[in-house]
Amino acid sequence: MRIYLDNAATTPLDKEVLEAMMPYMTEHFGNPSSIHTHGREVRNAIERSRKSIATLLNAAPAEIFFTSGGTEADNTAIQSGIRTLGIKHAITTPIEHHAVLHTLEALEKNKEINLHFVELNEKGVINMDHLEELVRTYPGSFVSIMHANNEVGNVNPIEQIGELCKAYHCTFHSDTVQTMGHFAHDLQKLKIDFIVGSAHKFHGPKGAGFLYLNSNNKIHPLIYGGSQERNMRGGTENVYGIIGMSKALEIAYSNLEKDKIYITGLKSRLIEKLKSKIEGITFNGDCLNLNQSLYTVLNASMPKHEINEMLLFNLDIKKISVSGGSACASGSDIGSHVLNFLKADPARGHVRFSFSKYNTVEEIDYVADVLEDLFNN
Ligand SMILES: Cc1ncc(COP(=O)(O)O)c(C=O)c1O
Repeated sequence: MRIYLDNAATTPLDKEVLEAMMPYMTEHFGNPSSIHTHGREVRNAIERSRKSIATLLNAAPAEIFFTSGGTEADNTAIQSGIRTLGIKHAITTPIEHHAVLHTLEALEKNKEINLHFVELNEKGVINMDHLEELVRTYPGSFVSIMHANNEVGNVNPIEQIGELCKAYHCTFHSDTVQTMGHFAHDLQKLKIDFIVGSAHKFHGPKGAGFLYLNSNNKIHPLIYGGSQERNMRGGTENVYGIIGMSKALEIAYSNLEKDKIYITGLKSRLIEKLKSKIEGITFNGDCLNLNQSLYTVLNASMPKHEINEMLLFNLDIKKISVSGGSACASGSDIGSHVLNFLKADPARGHVRFSFSKYNTVEEIDYVADVLEDLFNN
């Protein structure tokens, strides 16, 4: 058996989700845009999924638009939001996912916007005073700040940021890919214009995601084509992906607290074990702060040791799948922009452990023992 601790990259599909999807890969194959019965039954299933997702998030079904995943949802919010609303300034953080960062940088390069970065401290925590200064200086900006960072797990105070954006007439988008299905989003309370979801991060299928667009806004599509998604996204829907995504989110919401407690227990256990077994280990970002970080992510820097050169390879041989995210060591190795920003030492080995409900205490103990062996020899 292999141990999978790379759940921030993707999660295994829940069996119940697969069961819900199967009929839409077999007997219910109609095109949802067709007006005959084959099409209509599939259309109805898509609309049930939309309603289910909207209900869980306390939003209206008309505010949910299906996409091919988180990247497309982020791109739609940012590119179409900025262009349709005629926005000239954007504010973000330097440690956003590339789906956000590269999109904003492309708009800046194209001279469509001026891009401003909010200051972060050495753990990657936002300086809220600086954010306030930026929105005061550039009212009406497009603010894009992720809910939780996928590499180090920092959770940003999007409730507070939403209030600030509202006060300064800014449009607020948050990349919520890493918290969707792991955190209860209440869109009646949250002052936000766009959030996004990606099914494969919460035990749903790959290639299915959605954009929440607050009904106060109207934006042009990013992908033009047919009249699907109420003219907001051309292209035949990924029907079984959508069905699987809503099922996965239903399962996630019905077990949210239970899973959170269980997974937090695994994360705390690994922190304690690693601290006691590996001298000189440190942790990146704010991931030790259990109240202000994702319970699914732990990012560690190993002490200097020759094993670091081949650390992930050695872990793989020991049947452990984790993610690296190297800090920049040379001109050819671009490394992780997040770890580089946080000034993680390139001479050390960096490991992102990310957990799911399927991990066990035995797996955590095994991983800690393997690392102890590697670093104490
Ligand atoms: C924070 C964040 N945003 C966006 C994405 C992109 O999502 P997708 O894989 O659905 O395109 C990811 C996936 O790694 C992510 O972690």
